[in-house]
Amino acid sequence: MESVSSLEEWRRWCEAVRRSGRTVGLVPTMGALHAGHSSLVRAAVDAGDAVVMSIFVNPRQFEDVGDLSSYPSTPEEDATVAEASGVDLLVRPSLRQMWPRYPEPTPTTVRVSGVSEPFEGEARPGHFDGVASVVAKLLTVTGPCRLYMGEKDFQQVAVVRQFVDDLGFAVDVRACPTVRDEDGLALSSRNRRLSAPGRVRALALSRVLQILARDEWTPGAVRQHLRSVLSEADLPLEYAEVVRPDTLEPWPDGSEGVGRILVAVRVDGVRLIDNGPVILVKGA
Ligand code: PAF
Repeated sequence: MESVSSLEEWRRWCEAVRRSGRTVGLVPTMGALHAGHSSLVRAAVDAGDAVVMSIFVNPRQFEDVGDLSSYPSTPEEDATVAEASGVDLLVRPSLRQMWPRYPEPTPTTVRVSGVSEPFEGEARPGHFDGVASVVAKLLTVTGPCRLYMGEKDFQQVAVVRQFVDDLGFAVDVRACPTVRDEDGLALSSRNRRLSAPGRVRALALSRVLQILARDEWTPGAVRQHLRSVLSEADLPLEYAEVVRPDTLEPWPDGSEGVGRILVAVRVDGVRLIDNGPVILVKGA
């Protein structure tokens, strides 16, 4: 595995890969790597890509400064995990290169309306502007590529798909399935902040999604079931909605198809999000 930090070396490496006839696969991360990130690398390796992983803790997507300062940093472990997973080029750009004016605002922002506004957009104002801006910059340096992102952050993938499409990036966005611990909890770098009892309570989240994925439901029954299971588990709910997977608009009553359930709860002061598919029917 090679490692670089300059945007120029990174750009040149990707250009050389494309000249040799291979495709670049980009796995963007903020470090604190876990098996979820490794699964994205594996998807890129399986597709035959030359795999670039970026590690950059992007301050522009943290609306809460405390969240930024407590974000885990494990650089040595990250390099080991990246190499073992099959990364070919590890890029760790500096803050100076990514956002030279920081902490002054950067004049240019990529803002996606619609899909970025509800759910996480409402709970974390400015978050998706930061995400879209940084991913746009990572893609600009990388050039034409396949982009691997985890479905765990379902709304984030929808936001990225939207600007990639609208701005004409030569990028194939691949959403990869959420990786879960054996007990069902979706992997997230936030999980390490949960207490042991908090973690047990949090399992209700993946359990209810599993139950809802098994059967056919009306949108109303989905909402009702989510609310009652999560309140029984004493998990304060931030949102629980069943939506159209592409636009994230509420699933219309009376229409049939495969929707997506998006849920956010708070456990031990930690926000946990999860999502899963559901088959929707009209009902009696
Ligand atoms: O999901 C993440 O880790 C980040 O939001 C991303 C996509 C790397 C952008 O900073």
